[in-house]
Amino acid sequence: MCGIGACLSRIGENVAPKIVKMLKNLEYRGYDSAGVAVLDLDNKISLRKGVGKIDKLAKELKFDEMKGFIGIGHTRWATHGAVTKFNAHPHVDCLNEIAVAHNGIIENYIEIRERLERLGHKFLTQTDTEVIPHLIEENLKNNSSVLESLKKALIELKGAYALVLITRREPDKIFFARFFSPLVIGINDRDIYLASDIPAFLEWTRKVIILQDGDYGFVSRDNIYVRNLFDPSVKSRNWVLVEWTKEMAEKGGYQHYMLKEIHEQPESIRRTVIMVSKQINGVIELLENAKDVYLLAAGTSYYASLHGQYAFAKYGFKSRAIVSSEFLEEVGSFIDKDDLIIGVSQSGETADTLKALRYAREKGARIIAITNVVGSAITRIADKSIIMGAGPEIGVAATKTFTSQVATLNYLILTWAKEHGADVDYLMNKLLVVHKDVERVLEKNEKKAKNLSEIMYKRNNAYYLGRGIGLPIAMEGALKMKEIAYIHAEAYPAGESKHGPIALVTHDFPVFGVVLKDETYHRMHIALEEMKSRGGFIVSVNEVNDQDTMRLSDYHFVIPENYSNILAPLLYVVPLQLIAYYTAIKRRLDPDRPRNLAKSVTVE
Ligand code: F6R
Repeated sequence: MCGIGACLSRIGENVAPKIVKMLKNLEYRGYDSAGVAVLDLDNKISLRKGVGKIDKLAKELKFDEMKGFIGIGHTRWATHGAVTKFNAHPHVDCLNEIAVAHNGIIENYIEIRERLERLGHKFLTQTDTEVIPHLIEENLKNNSSVLESLKKALIELKGAYALVLITRREPDKIFFARFFSPLVIGINDRDIYLASDIPAFLEWTRKVIILQDGDYGFVSRDNIYVRNLFDPSVKSRNWVLVEWTKEMAEKGGYQHYMLKEIHEQPESIRRTVIMVSKQINGVIELLENAKDVYLLAAGTSYYASLHGQYAFAKYGFKSRAIVSSEFLEEVGSFIDKDDLIIGVSQSGETADTLKALRYAREKGARIIAITNVVGSAITRIADKSIIMGAGPEIGVAATKTFTSQVATLNYLILTWAKEHGADVDYLMNKLLVVHKDVERVLEKNEKKAKNLSEIMYKRNNAYYLGRGIGLPIAMEGALKMKEIAYIHAEAYPAGESKHGPIALVTHDFPVFGVVLKDETYHRMHIALEEMKSRGGFIVSVNEVNDQDTMRLSDYHFVIPENYSNILAPLLYVVPLQLIAYYTAIKRRLDPDRPRNLAKSVTVE
């Protein structure tokens, strides 16, 4: 989704190069156009924007040559209005005195726009955002300060926003506001930064203020002024030192963030297990006291949640995984104060997930958040938050956060099961050292994945089949292939595949099978045999000693023995991630920036 990067130099340096760097650092969020506005040395707003990637625009529009000590920048992911230069942010008022960059959606923009047009305002774009500078321009006519005018505008706006604003009226400040969409402030001796996400400025500072819903105010050379629309007692916000390092948010010698993050999984799983073990207090009690338990998430986080459902079921704990955007219609009317919702979100900012959780909270349900980002919106909704230790994930396609989510959910259920007398020591001990085997899976399968990409890159379709614990793994594998290699990949419960999907299988149709040596094994084989006898090209992920599966397969990827249990996704997903990655590369696609996708989906 849109990214905001703004900078105020405390020592009189030009900020445009830093803003451009921040926008580059936020590229992973997904965007189609970008722009920068600075207050130039004549106290005028200088604005440059266009369609395309930052590097191209920086060259064409010479962002770096813009002179000014205060500025704002934006990468736009179109929601209202086509992808055009005019619709790119920042947007200005009629007098060119106010520039605004915004992430989110202003739901009542049409009525505000019509009113302002009747008052004589001229609009140049089709965006919802453009009403903001005009509304503030209008409010300023009553001789109020910029802060008062901003506050008045915010009270009128409905929807979601993170916004930054510069104006000739008060040229020493960057104004800001946040409601639902994320916005953070970074501080060091030289600059103050405002951004949608911490990695934007991680190379300059780890000292961060995480703004909260309703916060608004301004930053100036020596002041960070924060007030809250709903809570008059807020007079400031404390800063925190984030543990993420600059190196963690860099590629570290890998060609892409995605590949780096796939390789980081041994470490991210190890760290997550340690971190989760320290945050488990109170969680079991919440599980214990709940009537119904729902796991709520979107995309990859949903597949991790579905794994949670299967893993919980293995120990006799009933839960249900639900896609966030379907939650209200599917189960909304059943939710009450005795229920527990486990919200799973890497970013902690996914609009669909937050909306469903807020609804559940209003109904009195208890909420546990599992997220990767300290201070993210989900943690403020939850009764109890568990922060995973995956570190920043920059690649748009989730990889290491999927395995961290699975590790977290496994840790919860094993802890619960142990308290109920189940013998889980073997699996718990294995969870503590599984990272070593993930390392082996990477070593054993990377070259093979590269080889398979030579075949896969010419294909347009694939099935991914799994059963039981294997099903969410197949679903996640198919999602990766779709997202970054643009191959139509469909995941099915293996047994269900004969009820329709098999009609498509003819000579050389790729069928991926996640084969676990558990109670599903024989039924999984039957499904793969059915596919093979119709000409399917079978690619299996199976245990290293599983000769029968390897005989049946045209291609196979091996996993160490004794993982055909709830730990399976931590290993079995790895070859599928690598296959998607190398297929994207072979297709000459950029896996870090898949088309139409955004890392943090902050609109519904
Ligand atoms: C897929 C992917 C998305 C996210 C989804 C939820 O690779 O990254 O499907 O999983 O948008 O995001 P979070 O986990 O941040 O709520």
